[in-house]
Amino acid sequence: MTTLLTHQNRVAVVTGSGRGIGAAIAVALAQRGAKVVAVDLQSPSATVAAIGRNAVGVAADVSDPNGWATVARVAEESFGDVGIVINNAAFYPNHPIEELDLDTWRKTMSVNLDAQFLSAKQFVPAMRRNKWGRFVGISSNSIGLTVKGMSHYIASKMGIVGFMRGLANDVANDGITCNAVLPGLTHTVATEAQGEEQRRATWQAQAIQRFAEPEEIVGPILFLTSDDAAFMTGQALVVDGGQYRVG
Ligand SMILES: NC(=O)c1ccc[n+]([C@@H]2O[C@H](COP(=O)([O-])OP(=O)(O)OC[C@H]3O[C@@H](n4cnc5c(N)ncnc54)[C@H](O)[C@@H]3O)[C@@H](O)[C@H]2O)c1
Repeated sequence: MTTLLTHQNRVAVVTGSGRGIGAAIAVALAQRGAKVVAVDLQSPSATVAAIGRNAVGVAADVSDPNGWATVARVAEESFGDVGIVINNAAFYPNHPIEELDLDTWRKTMSVNLDAQFLSAKQFVPAMRRNKWGRFVGISSNSIGLTVKGMSHYIASKMGIVGFMRGLANDVANDGITCNAVLPGLTHTVATEAQGEEQRRATWQAQAIQRFAEPEEIVGPILFLTSDDAAFMTGQALVVDGGQYRVG
């Protein structure tokens, strides 16, 4: 991995960074020189400790507009204007359609999709002023796979791709890009409940036939949030060892 400080002088918000993929993204952005605002339901102290003085933790619910106001205030007080927003926090219960109730549907939309909208409302004005910004919405390769009991989740993750495409059109002339990243099966708490047999079935459908570690998802996110990706927007990048192929 390159050691260039590609993200120096950038302030990055990473949601759901208390563990898993979000924690790996936060640490990697800091290693590239960014100041990191690490957000989770409880302040992600382990992630902040791993980064050191270039990180601040915020306890906030990403489905709540007041939570985003808190994130913005802490970011401004600690580091200044936010230029990078990684919406990674997610709600992902498994319910076949017969068991899926409206409250679960709405919570899934609100954590996974409303958060993307709320963050745009919060941070686009400063990004426009600064003529630079990066939004990355963490979607999932499950939007293209046969995964049962996840209709609500798949709808929300497809919505992230749609919102990034639409937002990209509105903000493009101010140096702001908006893209989605679609991880495949990754070794986190989220996939702990899956048995060996279920995981193996997924691996066998991948070109690279093994479990991904969270650190293996971050490279494309570093690229999309760097200056190198300034002409790339409204895209969906699949990072799944070659399971779901688009285009
Ligand atoms: N792990 C996988 O196999 C996999 C595959 C495809 C996509 N993804 C996506 O990657 C992202 C990260 O997944 P993960 O496996 O690291 O998940 P995880 O469950 O390990 O971590 C998610 C974090 O988000 C936080 N969070 C949940 N709701 C929140 C809220 N309302 N406000 C603030 N924080 C909240 C949780 O507390 C947790 O720390 C998610 O968007 C997930 O859908 C994961």
